Amino acid sequence: MKININGKECLANDGDYVLQVARANDIFIPAICYLNDCSPTLACRMCMVEIDGKRSYACNTKVKDGMQVLSNTKELWDERNAIMQTYCINHPLQCGVCDKSGECELQNFTHKAQVDTQNHWIKEIDRRHQDWGALQYDPSLCIVCERCITVCKDKIGDSELKTIARGGDAPDKDFKDTMSKDAYAVWTKFQKSLIAPQNGTTLDCQECAECVSVCPTGAIINKNFQYRSNAWELTRIPASNPHSSDCELMYYDVKQRSIKDNTKMVYRVSNDFHFTTLNKAARFAYDIASDCKGKDEVEFNRLVSLFKDNKIKNVKFNSYITNEEAYILELLRQKYGFNLVNNEALCFQDFLKTFCAHSGSFYNASSDDVKKSDFIVIAGSFLRHDNPTLSYKVNNAIVMNKGAGLYFHPIKDTKFSKIAKNFVSVNCDYGKEAQVLEFILQYFAKDLPQNLAYIKDAFYEEQIEVEVKSKDAEGNEIKEKKQETIKKSSLAKELGFDEDKLKDLLLKKANFTLIIGNDYFYHENAKYLAYLLANIQKLTDFKVMLIPPRTNTLGVSLLCKLSKASDGFTLGYNERGDFSFSNDEHNNLASSNLLEQEGTFVNYDKRLVPTNAALKFKGYYLNDLANALGLDALYTIEYTEQLPKDKGFLNIAFDDLTNHYDNAGNNHRGYLIDTCEFVKNLKQDNQIPQNIKSTCECKKDDIVILANPIGNLSKYTNKSSFFNECASLYASKDYLAKHNLKENSMVKIYDDKDEIIIKVVLDKNIENGAYLPTFDDKINPYKFFKTRRYYALNIKEISYE
Ligand code: SF4
Ligand code: SF4
Ligand code: FES
Repeated sequence: MKININGKECLANDGDYVLQVARANDIFIPAICYLNDCSPTLACRMCMVEIDGKRSYACNTKVKDGMQVLSNTKELWDERNAIMQTYCINHPLQCGVCDKSGECELQNFTHKAQVDTQNHWIKEIDRRHQDWGALQYDPSLCIVCERCITVCKDKIGDSELKTIARGGDAPDKDFKDTMSKDAYAVWTKFQKSLIAPQNGTTLDCQECAECVSVCPTGAIINKNFQYRSNAWELTRIPASNPHSSDCELMYYDVKQRSIKDNTKMVYRVSNDFHFTTLNKAARFAYDIASDCKGKDEVEFNRLVSLFKDNKIKNVKFNSYITNEEAYILELLRQKYGFNLVNNEALCFQDFLKTFCAHSGSFYNASSDDVKKSDFIVIAGSFLRHDNPTLSYKVNNAIVMNKGAGLYFHPIKDTKFSKIAKNFVSVNCDYGKEAQVLEFILQYFAKDLPQNLAYIKDAFYEEQIEVEVKSKDAEGNEIKEKKQETIKKSSLAKELGFDEDKLKDLLLKKANFTLIIGNDYFYHENAKYLAYLLANIQKLTDFKVMLIPPRTNTLGVSLLCKLSKASDGFTLGYNERGDFSFSNDEHNNLASSNLLEQEGTFVNYDKRLVPTNAALKFKGYYLNDLANALGLDALYTIEYTEQLPKDKGFLNIAFDDLTNHYDNAGNNHRGYLIDTCEFVKNLKQDNQIPQNIKSTCECKKDDIVILANPIGNLSKYTNKSSFFNECASLYASKDYLAKHNLKENSMVKIYDDKDEIIIKVVLDKNIENGAYLPTFDDKINPYKFFKTRRYYALNIKEISYE
């Protein structure tokens, strides 16, 4: 349809708000409280417009064909001027030191609305700063736009903020006659309310700081940035989140350390909050540059000789690398014949290949599809911990689309299960991964191949009592109770949920997404799970999304021929090895960190996205090693253009890649991988994998999973001063009770070969389990978790031994 805004004809879609259409057409309508993809709250009223002669609000008025919209009349600006005046009443004059100064929407709109007088007054009230852990709230700067509440509820899913009574006087009634209705209403509301954590005093949330990002003033701030820099002194460097496979667009804000020391440092990470949400890792784990002072020529030459003398049998690496580095490693592998070892990526790669071979295509959902879904199933992922950013999209979909869904996981995440009553957590046991997929096929597939026919037969009979109505000879209604035999899914029963509920959840649902995570990739039955999943993509209405476990697992899986390690000398690239060329402390030769490099990642949406160097690295890059070994590129990013076409890459030079969203929210970040090309060139293995039934006979109370607390995703995030934690075993309250443990006691967790001594801490947001993290280099949890993500571990308190 078409609408007209200020004389400009604009194309619009059914369901769009006027404000969205204006923004997509580069027409400016002032708006303070509205956030993209969130419900309009009508808190600020700045977006007032005239529609066909009547006053409306652009943020909550849906378009109609032929609508005539005016947003720029003098009358409208007079009203906006009056509203901005009310915001400025008693607003403290601390712009000189306020963190938001220079990028404050209150400043901007005060200028834009040409506020040059103050016609109103009100008595001051006590407005002290409040300490909210990593964040701080200054009530005197708060204009009660409620963006912080909205983003936390509609996007993040924590719903951790609310309005409370401010205790201020109401504006004098006399003003009612001298000011506009909207200005008076906005002022009254903001005199009455304040923002507070749900529990009243401290924030019990995942500390993503998205509320800080959306706050138009400096009312909520990150304490680690407070008073450290004014916005205009910082240089914004566009990048991609290096800590998880969302690889969201973000900016490193850098400037020099001090007058005397002109080396640069990152002061904060920021984002375009309308289009991206950052997780805690992206937001806070940025002071992780290597402290390399210069080039260690001796060690570098030793490393070159190790290659040239064919001493290196394995190169072990992880997926926190760029595509260009992964490609260099692959080229060196082809030249020197060593094994490229990355077990996490190998599991994902094998899973992906089996999936593609049997579905005939790549996984077909993106995080945008997740956002558009109204029915979401999650399986094999401890989602808020594994990929917080994707959990935001799930929350956003369920909240905004009035969606429903099922979340299968043995550990219950109580915060996530509170999103909506139609988003049901199913606490199925470990080892039931295949049954989840089989049930989806049983319930949703139109047809099944012969070898999966067993799924269609997985039913049992149940006797139920039904009421039957009939009429007697006189025509009176009689009700009789009768026994009836019905068929019920034995798969649903095994999984422990009521399939009848599903019918209600599915009412009026049309967009289905299935999200699959780590538990399935690291499973001894992974091949069969991939095969079942491929059939779901082919035979049901579900779109399927895989979550690559680390930042660039997908890129590595596309580019590298991976294998298991063999005996012999191992070079660790960013990992420990017989020779470590690494950004860890215990290296032989320092390597660069991801924020010291230009390059690209492939994110979970199958999009190649660029990232830039925030800081200079003084040591040797992998590219320097490659050049010494006969490859030839001045800069690592010369490889961007050479990434192989048969794996789906497009031969586009790094400098030609864009990295932004436009006003309409369209994604202009890098490019989408040509997944058809990848699938076409895959060595097809169409053999149907064997269904390896789980051999886990362990006591389910003893099971621990491999997972990190929300945000502290890896050894890289833990290097930052914000995290810098020692690993603990994180356990639910019921787990502690079952094992007779107290919070913070020291325990030994062990099997018949190994043990780890560790503190056990309470995670009050989970039920029914415990998890052991990977972020702390000092413990090695992988000695337990060899073939799957869960393992039965004995536990014993050692304080009393
Ligand atoms: S804290 Fe910031 S975002 Fe929240 S209501 Fe106040 S001004 Fe708005
Ligand atoms: S930090 Fe994130 S989770 Fe916590 S209140 Fe703010 S938006 Fe919500
Ligand atoms: S943006 Fe529309 S009322 Fe605030």
